[in-house]
Order: sequence, then structure tokens, then C-alpha cells
Amino acid sequence: MSVFTAPKGIPEYFPPNSAAFLAVREKLVGAARRAGYGYVELPIFEDTTLFARGVGESTDVVTKEMYTFADRGGRSVTLRPEGTAGVMRAVIEHGLDRGQLPVKLYYAGPFFRYERPQAGRYRQLQQVGVEAIGVDDPALDAEVIAIADTGFRDLGLSGYRLEITSLGDASCRPQYRAELQDFLRKLPLDDETRQRAEINPLRVLDDKRPDVRELLADAPLMVDHLSPECREHYEQVKGHLTDLGVKFVENPRMVRGLDYYTKTTFEFVHDGLGAQSGIGGGGRYDGLMAELGGQPLSGVGFGLGVDRTLLACEVEGVTPGDTARCDVFCVPLGDAAKARLVALAGQLRARGVRVDLAYGGKGLKGAMKAADRSGARFALVVGERDLAEGNAQLKELSTGEQRALPLDGAVTGVLRALGGSDT
Ligand code: HAM
Repeated sequence: MSVFTAPKGIPEYFPPNSAAFLAVREKLVGAARRAGYGYVELPIFEDTTLFARGVGESTDVVTKEMYTFADRGGRSVTLRPEGTAGVMRAVIEHGLDRGQLPVKLYYAGPFFRYERPQAGRYRQLQQVGVEAIGVDDPALDAEVIAIADTGFRDLGLSGYRLEITSLGDASCRPQYRAELQDFLRKLPLDDETRQRAEINPLRVLDDKRPDVRELLADAPLMVDHLSPECREHYEQVKGHLTDLGVKFVENPRMVRGLDYYTKTTFEFVHDGLGAQSGIGGGGRYDGLMAELGGQPLSGVGFGLGVDRTLLACEVEGVTPGDTARCDVFCVPLGDAAKARLVALAGQLRARGVRVDLAYGGKGLKGAMKAADRSGARFALVVGERDLAEGNAQLKELSTGEQRALPLDGAVTGVLRALGGSDT
């Protein structure tokens, strides 16, 4: 065994599972593309202060989970823990906000959080995200949410629920926050929770301990303290979701781990995943662009966890995508047959057929085993006698059915057998 192992807490994907991973990512991305979002490719690391300022100095992500280091020029850089701050930086830097609004972007790739690894919680996690920037329209919130829901449904998932709430904005949250703090100060809470109540009282609402939950039963809730404008916005988002046929439940105690959220926030929760049940989340972040030095433009978006969505597929017994590596597996017996099949494989690939070949002079038995493992529908076997007769044997691997195919017209024959075009 090698002395090297992968860093702790990082899922790696190999065939055949990697095909399912790619299919999950592709389905989620496909839903965004169909709604007019364009792809952005952004740096994996950025200036540390971008995340500190963007995500929030008091969040766990910033205080405990960032991979931060000095590069060789002495600059403090951080592996991106999430995508929204980087997208905003790029939009401002490249002036995209001065063009047509909203700016609609999507991204896919790895993010890094130094969390305690466990099932579904990784230090390198994969997300598909979208951001719609520059228009404060509740219909856009609903669009973003519906894209995520469509992506999950396209995969065949059904065991999840969408939770939504509104976190208000600068016009109503400060008053609510003060009221919640007053309420919390009167409770017999432990020191750590008291401290949390002073720094970020909303997060106390998310406490999972039964005794604390009981104390919080009558806590004031943001949704009951929304400004008329925020309430109207929230009602309209719910109306649009209903029109779009997207089912949701309201969770007025929802707490997101990032500080930039305003108004609409949401989470997709899967019941089959245990503690790490969030398969995606997002919301509106109307103050973020100004906070990062840009125009005061609004924004709304989501990040969907590809790793966790894949786990959800496994739990529900859904197989996303095709795990077969090829359609046809060529089995040459002897050098002359090999030369013929190598050439034929090239011709078939040029016609779009996925083809592999038993390299290394494997015998018939070993080669057929390899054919089975490849997931191919057909094996194309050529022995010395076949060659002399100008034939190949096309074997359907699931049934064992076999028939001879003239080698000269083999491309057409294979295409026909696969149900494709032969012209
Ligand atoms: P987030 O809720 O921190 O939001 O992450 C989004 C999703 O990424 C989570 O729902 C989860 O599925 C996945 N995820 C997060 N941490 C881990 C982990 N350690 N291991 C595995 N999966 C994980 C954001 O990142 C925001 N940037 C989303 C957003 C975009 N809001 C507005 N625009």
C-alpha cells in the first residue's frame, strides 16, 4: 500500500460511482441553464478579507472553518468556503452589474470548510450554485427556488422538503433582534448560549437541545416582526411558488450559517440523511454587494450540495445517469483480430459509440469478464476463424444472445443493433 492517503474528510469518486456524481451535477446545472443562467469559472482561493467581510466575521465558517494561509508573497488567501462572495467580487470587478440586469450566473465546483468530518460532512464539498443579481423581484426568488426543486425532481428524488422563511432586512431586523435579545436575557441559559445571544441571537433559536427548545417555545419570531415591505415580498414569493407548483413548508426558526441573508431564505432538507440533512440552501442577500464595495444592488441565489444529493439518491435507490463506461466492448483473439478491432473501435467512436477493447492479449474468459464489468451492452468478439470468414460475433451481454456480423459492414451493424442511425 502507498504511504500516501488523501487528506481527511474528502470524498473521492471513481467509476462506476463517479458517473452518478457527474450525472447529479449535470442535472442540477441543467435546471439552471434552462432558466437562462450563464456559467462562471472563478478562483478556488481569494483574498481572506473577501470571505471575512462577505460571509460574516462572527460565523462558524469564518471563525473556525476557513483554510487560510499566506502565499509566497505573504498575502493571506483562503480556499473558498462558499461561492456567493466570490461571484459578487467578480461581478463588481468586471462591471457585469453595469450591463443588463439581473445578472444570472451559475457555478459548480469544490468548496472547502475545515469541519469535523462525518457522513455527509466533508472538508472538500462540491456545490452547484446560482446567483441572480440586481433585481429585487419576488418572482426571481421563486425562480431560484424552483430551479433547485426542478433539479432534485429531475434526479428522481422525492424524500425531501423545502423550508422557507423571511429574515427581514435592515428596516425591521434590528428591532426584532433587540426584542429577541431581551427575551433571551431573561432565560436561565448557560454561559456559552448567553454569549451567543449577545453576538448572534438568531442562532440561539436553532439550538437542538430539548430543554433549551422548551425555553424558546415562546420566543418572538422574525416573521411576526417583518416590515410591511418585507411581509409583502414574502407573501409574493409564496404566491409565485404556489403558482410554480413548488411545495414548501414555513420554518420561522430557520437559521442559516452565513450572515449575508435578508428577506427570503430557504433550505432543502432530506429526511434520509441523518444529521447532515441539508441538501441545499440559499436566499436573498440585498446588502452584500454594497458591503463588498459595489453598488447597492440586491441578489438571490442558492448552493446545492452535490455530495449530499448523491447520498440522497443512494438512500432513495435512485440511480442518476448511466454508470456503463461503454456501449460496446471489443474482444480480439489473436494479433490479426486485434488490428482489425482497434481500427473498428476508432470508426465506431467517430460515430459517437462508446467503445472499449480488451488490451493486453487477455484470453476469452478474462476478456468477457472485463466486458461484463465495463457495463457494455454488447461484446464484439473476433477470433481467428471469424476473421477467416470475414465475421465478428456480436453478443448481447444481458441475454447471452449472439449473432454473426460481416466485418466489412460492422459499423452499420453495430449502430443498428444499438438502435442508432446507420446512415
Ligand atoms: P450553505 O448552506 O453553507 O450555503 O451550503 C449549501 C449546501 O452545501 C448545503 O445545503 C449542503 O448541502 C452543502 N454543504 C455545505 N457544507 C458542507 C459540508 N461540509 N459537506 C458536505 N456538504 C456541505 C452556501 O454555501 C451559500 N453560498 C448558498 C447561497 C448562494 N446563498 C445564496 N447564494
